[in-house]
Amino acid sequence: MRFDILTLFPSAFPGPLEAGVLGRALAAGRLEVEAHDLRDWAQNKHRQVDDTPYGGGAGMLLKPEPVFRAVRELQARREAPVILLTPQGRLLDHDLALELAGHEALLLVAGRYEGFDERIRSLADYEVSIGDFVLTGGELAAMVLVEVVARLTPGVLGDADSAREESFADGLLEYPQYTRPPEFEGLRVPEVLLSGDHQRIQAWRREHALERTRARRPDLLTNTKKKE
Ligand code: 6GU
Repeated sequence: MRFDILTLFPSAFPGPLEAGVLGRALAAGRLEVEAHDLRDWAQNKHRQVDDTPYGGGAGMLLKPEPVFRAVRELQARREAPVILLTPQGRLLDHDLALELAGHEALLLVAGRYEGFDERIRSLADYEVSIGDFVLTGGELAAMVLVEVVARLTPGVLGDADSAREESFADGLLEYPQYTRPPEFEGLRVPEVLLSGDHQRIQAWRREHALERTRARRPDLLTNTKKKE
């Protein structure tokens, strides 16, 4: 899978995406991440990409022309849905990640400043937010999206790393897990997990996944298939 990212900070990429299993996928060419500097499509000699809002108010907005020029040129190179990263977007969750993972390529647009000129939204196939908080720019959100989507894409992770379907795949939080030693500072691993009885272990895990979800995220149980 391929991700093109339009950003004012191309040097931030691949950043942490280069670590671990995604780093191996990048090195092997199973995953491609290319950042493009929005200023390369700016028009004046100052390479200006922002301007003050009509009607007044604090801060600067991304101007439409450089973003339109950049998105059109990148789309002429490769057909891909355009994803605008914005706190006003649809919340990224497992379902949306699976949908995005169905594409061969995605073009991510990471904003900065106080927002976008509204006309930029007309370029977007998706507007995506990674949570109900405000980041100073879309770059970290773009990295989160790449990480979440790439690991769900068949063929990105090698066989050994293939995405384990844990929390959220079945709509539940993960059950408690333990490794050696069986007792640590007086805290014991539940006997059932040492029993070797796989049926009992499976039942225990299901029960504790449900209990943990009920305690921490009851919304996941009511929104059987959470939409929006
Ligand atoms: Cl996608 N962008 C910004 N700037 N802030 C955010 C966000 C995105 N998602 C949550 N907060």
